[in-house]
Amino acid sequence: MLKVSILGAGAVGATTAEYIAMKNFVSEVVLLDIIDGLAEGKAMDLSQTASMNRFETKIIGTTGDYSKTAGSQVVVLTSGVPRKPGMSREDLVGVNAEIVKNVIPSILQYSPNAIIIVVVNPMDTMTYLVQKISGLPRNRVIGMGGELDSARFKYQLSEALGCPATEIDGMVIAAHTDTGMVPLLSKATYKGVPVCEFLSEDKIDYVVEETKIGGATLTKLLGISSWYAPGAATAVLVHSILCDHEKMMPCSVMLEGEYGQHDVCIGVPVIIGKNGLERIVEIKLTDAEKDKFNASVAAVKEVNAALKNFL
Ligand code: 2OP
Repeated sequence: MLKVSILGAGAVGATTAEYIAMKNFVSEVVLLDIIDGLAEGKAMDLSQTASMNRFETKIIGTTGDYSKTAGSQVVVLTSGVPRKPGMSREDLVGVNAEIVKNVIPSILQYSPNAIIIVVVNPMDTMTYLVQKISGLPRNRVIGMGGELDSARFKYQLSEALGCPATEIDGMVIAAHTDTGMVPLLSKATYKGVPVCEFLSEDKIDYVVEETKIGGATLTKLLGISSWYAPGAATAVLVHSILCDHEKMMPCSVMLEGEYGQHDVCIGVPVIIGKNGLERIVEIKLTDAEKDKFNASVAAVKEVNAALKNFL
């Protein structure tokens, strides 16, 4: 039986459950939250869409009962405080590290073989924390951010080019932060043709900037952090693991020398399959991209230093 548990039944957690259910590839999705009745309510509401949206996935909600998550192959961690307008993701490090630290033992007690997907912000730092305190091999701790940032990059490129986003290919690597993201312009294509052949330098600069602040723009408009694209990106990642798609997508994983870096979790292109992280793909970056990637690593390591009381 394929089973996914999602910790946190807030907007991102519930939307992840919705998109997973709509893809109809798992038997059970468990939503867990600490707010009394919230997960049960969202699970029931979502379950009532099944006859219309044509899925058989069972959706179960629970207020804090981890035994309901038992035997999950994948556990998604969205439990944490989202950012409000004016905040950076890094501002959340202390409060969310406390939450993340507390939930890891319960996850592993009931699902000792689970692959953990970290969505909580600041995501790269929380992935590092989970990696360190869980003691799991690095293939089983994966931070979701790069797939989301890449989707926002493709959206911005599609707007600039006046085409559907499905015509665009591209990736965003490095940190899932407003300043640390590195959209790989050199590799982005429109139907296989480099996007730089179609867009002026000004337009390209605009696309890159809007991609990097994509989450902040939405937080300002919505009054709270967004959920549709984060939920969709997380569902794609879960799907690739449980159906062993071996899709390539940028994810935050522990580097052990790849891209010249050690002891940091940060977004790089990886293959995602039944073992979680199957392998890291080392692609050729331009000198400018390399410099930006290394600066992004340095910034994440600085935020990671705030974890010293949690490790
Ligand atoms: C975002 O970028 C939630 O960090 C996530 O929207």
